[in-house]
Amino acid sequence: MGRVLVTRRLPDGGLDPLADHELIGPNADDAPFSHDELVVRAGEVDAIVAVLTDRIDADVLAAGAGNGRLRVVANVAVGYDNIDVRTAREHGVVVCNTPGVLDETTADLAFTLILAASRLVHDAEADLRAGSWNGWGITQYLGRDVHGATLGIVGYGRIGRAVARRAAGFGMRVLHHARGDTGEPGYLADLDELLATADIVSLHVPGGEPTHHLLDARRLALLRPTAVVINTARGPVIDEAALAEALHAGSIAGAGLDVYEHEPEVTESLLVRENVVLSPHLGSATRETRVAMGMLCVEGLRAVLLENRRPANAVVYPEAP
Ligand code: GLV
Repeated sequence: MGRVLVTRRLPDGGLDPLADHELIGPNADDAPFSHDELVVRAGEVDAIVAVLTDRIDADVLAAGAGNGRLRVVANVAVGYDNIDVRTAREHGVVVCNTPGVLDETTADLAFTLILAASRLVHDAEADLRAGSWNGWGITQYLGRDVHGATLGIVGYGRIGRAVARRAAGFGMRVLHHARGDTGEPGYLADLDELLATADIVSLHVPGGEPTHHLLDARRLALLRPTAVVINTARGPVIDEAALAEALHAGSIAGAGLDVYEHEPEVTESLLVRENVVLSPHLGSATRETRVAMGMLCVEGLRAVLLENRRPANAVVYPEAP
């Protein structure tokens, strides 16, 4: 039995496998722990169940590993750009995430944004709710067809592929770009070529330094004026200010965003644009998937604490944790 810091409340059932551990947190009102609190708590526990808004940086890891106690950080997310994995490795702290259980759910949300942004659903709905819809009009809310359009998928891992499967059902032409040649139909080695060709571009790369501002002002300028950009990956993958500028200038037609560069802040001008659909980072937000994420994360944690073995979902497993 170990002592585990759980930073946020999980959906019912998500923590059941930890019933035999001593749990610290979450806060009664589910308020996030401040960074200072995380540093203090990290020194008192064997494991941390973290979420993507917890910054598990060198200070937290040093405090945790300083007395040799902290052995594992289990992130309830597939992305782990909130964790300083290099420092975790140096301190012998295992890091695990939740791959595989949220692919279809996140792809569903990406497709929701593809459809909503292409068909201007949010814009039309806003008018209707505001009482400013005066009846059917033949030139109203003229969006763009999704069927028959070319979808450019950037990042062809599990989620990118799940989006591609949906696109096939919609009769789309699907291109994809990945760091290495996938050898599969639709692969384009040149990201710029994909951007210049696609009607809709959907991002599915991990966050972190290598993908920071992958879509910068130069690349945004390669997009067609009719293009729609979808981001369900990580906010910093797009230069958000440059995206807002491109939308404002009309050099692209629209965007569907679930993630933001400085969450929970959103670039002001995006909030008022009609050609952008915005959702608050809810890619994996279904009850089933969030419970599955909690279970998987805790499975990894138990493997380390109770069985002293490498969990299947480890992204960092130092030699002698
Ligand atoms: C959500 O953004 C995740 O990484 O799981």
